[in-house]
Amino acid sequence: MGFFDFMQEAIAIDLGTANTLIIHNDKVVVDEPSIVAKNVRTGEVIAIGKRAQQMHGKAHKDIETMRPLKDGVIADFQSSEQMIRGFIKMIPRKRTLFSPALKMVVCIPSGVTEVEKRAVVDSAEHAGAKDVWLIMEPMAAAIGIGIDVLEPKGNMVIDIGGGTTEIAVISLGGIVCDKSIRVAGDEFTDNIKTYMKTRHNIAVGDIMAEQIKINVGSALTELKDPPANYAVHGRDLMSGIPKEIIVTYKEIAGALNN
Ligand SMILES: Nc1ncnc2c1ncn2[C@@H]1O[C@H](COP(=O)(O)OP(=O)(O)OP(=O)(O)O)[C@@H](O)[C@H]1O
Ligand SMILES: [Mg+2]
Repeated sequence: MGFFDFMQEAIAIDLGTANTLIIHNDKVVVDEPSIVAKNVRTGEVIAIGKRAQQMHGKAHKDIETMRPLKDGVIADFQSSEQMIRGFIKMIPRKRTLFSPALKMVVCIPSGVTEVEKRAVVDSAEHAGAKDVWLIMEPMAAAIGIGIDVLEPKGNMVIDIGGGTTEIAVISLGGIVCDKSIRVAGDEFTDNIKTYMKTRHNIAVGDIMAEQIKINVGSALTELKDPPANYAVHGRDLMSGIPKEIIVTYKEIAGALNN
């Protein structure tokens, strides 16, 4: 430990389409959905993370909830910056006389363009970082699950997130080949929402659709150990009143197969 270490602090951020995680002193200190709630008239940020997620679909017309990232990259620069700033404030830290310089390591999808990289660096700098380092998500995932990435041996990593699916082969400390597809978990959630609307005539929110996916989502129509049927709550589009229907994994497998 150096003499000036108290003047510097390092954090790692996984800025994801669905969730943002911050690691500080080897511990996950922030794990929140990447959602911002804003007052559309004044532009003021009302809430971020879980609190903003709870407001989704329930707010009046002056409050808008949005996701600043799309397909793993920054779609709304200002909101991303406000969100990062807010999450950094959530880190439990010792109070010191000086506020230490922040060193940030940020994960990015392997398929991003130079412009998209620049947007991440700028956002992090505006949110208070003195030094910003970028790391490819598959490399971070491989290190995180304990693979010795420096070995002369190929290891394949597949990271299915909310907006991107990253597939990479890692060997000798580098990415040998990779593919980043801008289709991931959130697309399945959207498919379920559309299916509920067209097949059952009920409108379900993002949270309900995600719960259906988590509880009875399946890629196969025949499972050895099938999950129990799931009660879906939504708004009947014809009558406008709440309705409950029971869905099976077989039905959802069909919906995801489209
Ligand atoms: N048990 C589960 N079964 C199926 N899907 C799940 C489950 N738990 C989470 N998910 C889905 O995983 C996705 C979120 O994953 P993750 O937090 O890794 O994404 P992210 O890192 O924010 O996104 P990206 O890496 O694409 O920017 C969401 O679509 C969520 O619905
Ligand atoms: Mg991710």
